[in-house]
Order: sequence, then structure tokens, then C-alpha cells
Amino acid sequence: MTDVNGLSIAILGGTGDQGKGLARRFALAGHPVLIGSRSAQRAHDAAGSIGSGATGGENADVAARAGLVIVAVPYEGHKALLESLRAELAGKIVVDCVNPLGFDKQGAYALPVEEGSAAQQAAAVLPDSRVVAAFHHVSAVVLMDPAVDKVDLDVLVLGDDREATDTVQALAEVIPGVRGVYGGRLRNAHQIEALTANIISVNRRYKAHAGLRITDI
Ligand SMILES: NC(=O)c1ccc[n+]([C@@H]2O[C@H](COP(=O)([O-])OP(=O)(O)OC[C@H]3O[C@@H](n4cnc5c(N)ncnc54)[C@H](OP(=O)(O)O)[C@@H]3O)[C@@H](O)[C@H]2O)c1
Repeated sequence: MTDVNGLSIAILGGTGDQGKGLARRFALAGHPVLIGSRSAQRAHDAAGSIGSGATGGENADVAARAGLVIVAVPYEGHKALLESLRAELAGKIVVDCVNPLGFDKQGAYALPVEEGSAAQQAAAVLPDSRVVAAFHHVSAVVLMDPAVDKVDLDVLVLGDDREATDTVQALAEVIPGVRGVYGGRLRNAHQIEALTANIISVNRRYKAHAGLRITDI
């Protein structure tokens, strides 16, 4: 297993539910965590609410300072934000957890993405970064819940750079209960992102925060 001890993690859009949830778990595991936002003040406030040494700053600032960067913004703002951070993200592992979803009376559904998926869009926009797709199915509610000691799910990790996917699998596993599982190349990220719509349907029907487990490995 790759050693991720001490790896600093920036989270773009870290003031949102998903960003704060991941930040909380990584900070609890002892990682330096940098919350990113379009507003330094919102980032500082979010970092303060997380505690465990988390700090905050504008997205560009935290992206430049961290060893690994997680993208946790809504799909609508995804492409423009990454285009604006090309220089800061060059050479880094960029972990995309963005689910391009629409919602109507029937519930959630997958949106078409010109590049194939949000993760492939990130790779297209960031040719000098090592883009990995992961953390699509983990519930922010569960990550934030202090009563949940162990998060019961596998995190599927996709990418074209073996060293980068190994790193992100190891990072997923610093969250107690989580297993990081390689899930294929980036060209298969669309199904993983789209599957979130099905998980949302499961959650609504069963009033749950469902996670996935892969068997026989
Ligand atoms: N929530 C979940 O359980 C969950 C689970 C798995 C994956 N995800 C994915 O994670 C991402 C974030 O989810 P979320 O629920 O945390 O979303 P969110 O709360 O709506 O947004 C997260 C943060 O993104 C920033 N943001 C909003 N619009 C933006 C724009 N146009 N450009 C740049 N930044 C913008 C905001 O931060 P500032 O205003 O401070 O900049 C906001 O606090 C989504 O793509 C979602 O599909 C969510």
C-alpha cells in the first residue's frame, strides 16, 4: 500500500457538504487539510468548523500549496474553475468526485457530458495534472456524522496513472471502514458518476445513506 502519511490535501469547494465531510475525515486521520473556496472568509469559517488543524484559503491559494487536490464543486462550476487553476494544479494528483446530475419530479438522473464524464472533462482541461476519479458515492451526511466511527463502503478509484490511483486508494483507506478499490480507466468514469443517481433513488426509497461494496476481492 502506498504511504500517504503527512500528505497535504486541498479541497476546492471545501465549504460545501461533500468537501467539509472529506476534510473532516482526512483531518481526523492526521492529514494537513486546506479548505478552498471562492471566498477566503468562507474557507476560514469552514476550516474553523472542522477543527483538527484544518486551514482555509481561496481555491487558487490552497491548490498551489497542497500535495494533492480534491475537486468538490457542483458540476455547473467545474470546468471554469479548473480552467482557472491550470498552473496551480500542474504536476499534481487531482481527485474529481463530481457527479453531473440533474433533478426533476422523478428524482436524480445523469447529465450528458461532452467529454464523457466530469473526470474526463477535468483531464481535458488539466493536461499537466494526474486526474483520478474517486469518492463519488460516499455520503457527506455520513462523513460529517460524529456517531459514525466506521464508514461502511468501498471507494471506487479510476484513472490512467497507476501510481496516482494507488495513492488515492491509500488515501481513501485512512477513513476508518473504507476500502479503496481500483475501478478502471478514466474513460469508464461516466458510469461511476451516473450510478450516483441510482444510489440517490435507493436512499430515497429506503431512507438510507447507501454505499457500495465490491465482493470477492
Ligand atoms: N453531497 C454529497 O453527499 C456528495 C457525495 C459525492 C459527491 N458529491 C459531489 O461533490 C460535489 C460537491 O457537492 P456538495 O454537495 O458539497 O455541493 P455544494 O455544497 O453545492 O457546493 C460545494 C461548494 O462549491 C462551491 N461552488 C458552488 N458553485 C460554484 C461555482 N459555480 N464555481 C466554483 N465553486 C462553486 C461553493 O463554495 P464557495 O461558495 O465557498 O466557493 C460550495 O460551497 C458535487 O459535484 C457533487 O456531485 C457530493
